[in-house]
Amino acid sequence: MSSPLAAGGCRQPTVVLIGPMGSGKSTVGAALARRLGRPHVDTDHFFVARHGAIPDFFAAHGERAFRQEEESIVAELLDAPRPSVVSLGGGSVLSEATRERLASHFVVMLDITLQQAADRIGDGSSRPMLGDQPLQTWERIAAERLPLYHECADMVVGAQHATIAARVDTIEDAINNR
Ligand code: S3P
Repeated sequence: MSSPLAAGGCRQPTVVLIGPMGSGKSTVGAALARRLGRPHVDTDHFFVARHGAIPDFFAAHGERAFRQEEESIVAELLDAPRPSVVSLGGGSVLSEATRERLASHFVVMLDITLQQAADRIGDGSSRPMLGDQPLQTWERIAAERLPLYHECADMVVGAQHATIAARVDTIEDAINNR
């Protein structure tokens, strides 16, 4: 794992949250940004502001077009000069260009159990990747992407840190102790 926060220099790296759908990247990202006094941006929210609802975009243009737009939004947000907290959509790490870009930031993977995912993703209707068997599909996709999350992550916040506050505390401790 790389250690961009320990690398020195005057530019603080952006803190980037990655992980499976429903792992709390948006909620934890917003809370962490408040704690650190930084702006928070969420690539899904940015996408929606620019292109409309994600399920509608998938239906009209397909996953490939979504991934292209997602990759360019991630690049725009990660290349911004001011250090921030950025929450990525769960599939962002599929892009090799994004994975390369993540190497110069502090990347935190949020992990969750299948049970926690069941509580959070509901009927899956807001997430077109999940189809009509949301939990089974979530489990398969999360397992497929796990090596990519680990490849990119400087730290993993495990499922045992269940509350938002516990997750934020753990990440803040890691940042302060580097
Ligand atoms: C996706 C995750 C979603 C969103 C889109 C595709 C994925 O974001 O970007 O529905 O492929 O994992 P969340 O991880 O915030 O649910």
